[in-house]
Amino acid sequence: MEPIDASLGLDAAGIALLPGAQLGTQLHEQLKARILQGQLPAALRLPTTRALAEALGISRNTVVRVYERLLSEGYLQTRVGDGTYVAALRATPSRTVVHLPTEPAPPDTPMWARVQAFTPPRRVEGPPRAFRHGVPALELFPAETWSRLLARFWRRSDAGLLGYTEAAGLPRLRELIAAYLSHSRGLHCTAEQVIVTSGAQQAISLAALALLKPSDRVAVESPGYRAAAAALSLTGAELLRVPVDAEGLQVAALEALGPCRLVHVTPSHQFPSCVAMSLPRRLALIHWAERQDAFLLEDDYDGEYRHAGLPLAPLASLDRSQRTLYVGSFSKLLAPGLRLGYLVAPAGFATVLTRLRGLLDRHSPIAEQTVLADFIEQGHFLRHLRRARRAATQRRDALLEAWQREFGSALPLAPIDAGLHALLPLETPAQEARLVQLGRAAGLELAGLREVGGLPSHSSRAGIVFGFAAVAPAQLRGAVRSLHKAWNKG
Ligand SMILES: Cc1ncc(COP(=O)(O)O)c(C=O)c1O
Repeated sequence: MEPIDASLGLDAAGIALLPGAQLGTQLHEQLKARILQGQLPAALRLPTTRALAEALGISRNTVVRVYERLLSEGYLQTRVGDGTYVAALRATPSRTVVHLPTEPAPPDTPMWARVQAFTPPRRVEGPPRAFRHGVPALELFPAETWSRLLARFWRRSDAGLLGYTEAAGLPRLRELIAAYLSHSRGLHCTAEQVIVTSGAQQAISLAALALLKPSDRVAVESPGYRAAAAALSLTGAELLRVPVDAEGLQVAALEALGPCRLVHVTPSHQFPSCVAMSLPRRLALIHWAERQDAFLLEDDYDGEYRHAGLPLAPLASLDRSQRTLYVGSFSKLLAPGLRLGYLVAPAGFATVLTRLRGLLDRHSPIAEQTVLADFIEQGHFLRHLRRARRAATQRRDALLEAWQREFGSALPLAPIDAGLHALLPLETPAQEARLVQLGRAAGLELAGLREVGGLPSHSSRAGIVFGFAAVAPAQLRGAVRSLHKAWNKG
């Protein structure tokens, strides 16, 4: 085949490099794209490396390296003593400009549609400002101890430790979690029932995938935790909302819905309304599950933080019929970025749930699991927990005092006996939208109940979630002052 005029081909291809770094990468990408699209057809002779370097004003070495890479990838060929040519790629008709294929249509699956319908939470960049919710006092994270334990893991790691490991998690860590749950939450389980997960979210997704089928009906709290509802809906199950009052999920309303396969509840500290489910409600819920042959998915995402009164027994410890799957997380005790949590499954379910975990992503990273196990075993965890709880209570007090001083009883916050956030109930969605807007304009992080609470648009419930654990008391006081000023002006 006769070589095609090189300069013509390259001019037509319109190679243009942006000044700055990675000229080689740019040239490689552009030549490759033009070869794949047929703009540089098979058998085209490329200019010499010297000529191209001069034409583009870059170093010859860069061009040599790019040609070598394209040669090794099969886009170019050399003919001895005769230069470098575009190789014949079977899929590229020579000399024809091939347009990139149009994007494929989205798959017509219930999973696709449901994931598409879920709006991910607003992510605010940078260090937390008042009133970010969902995070503990991250500046208290014991980074030095953690990094020392991590360095020790890597110093001691051997080939045996670095291969695939148990899908349910490191046995030592599962033992420690079981012991912790027994003494701190009164939840007695075996290590075999504990599956280490990538946070509470994965535990919820595992339960959903394993327990639900498309025709099932699933109940969620309203207001409730949107991300849990979305994960439960992935299986195609129908979601039903059950209202929450001052004693937690209304079991009578749940009962009135008829058959349901599973209910997601946050009994220790209802998200986002902050109420603790009363003992009579807990018992009624367990009886409901027994009658309905249903499962309880108990999400104890921040139950370790109690500012007043004693925590009530988790459903999983009261339930004698083994219908409760208990979800725990280290996100609020250590840091959400660690992605460590767990699922305590009824003994008969642990094997299948563990295999499912293995199918999804094998297991959690071994280094982090080992470090967490050491961290708990050496007493750092309980020490950190005490510190984090103290800080959360101080910050709660600072918020309450500042709130009382600025807003008085005109806009009372709901009681904060547990957890890391407060709820300000408001009368109308319009009031909620206004306060969120004013707060954000004043540089605060505010979240409306509609945004975080999974409320349907026709619900008249309104309010604002105030995270108080993420910043120091002084910052909280200043933030309440700014909000009050904005509220009076607005
Ligand atoms: C009710 C509830 N469940 C679960 C989670 C998520 O926890 P994780 O970070 O462990 O996935 C949160 C996070 O804020 C939550 O509010």
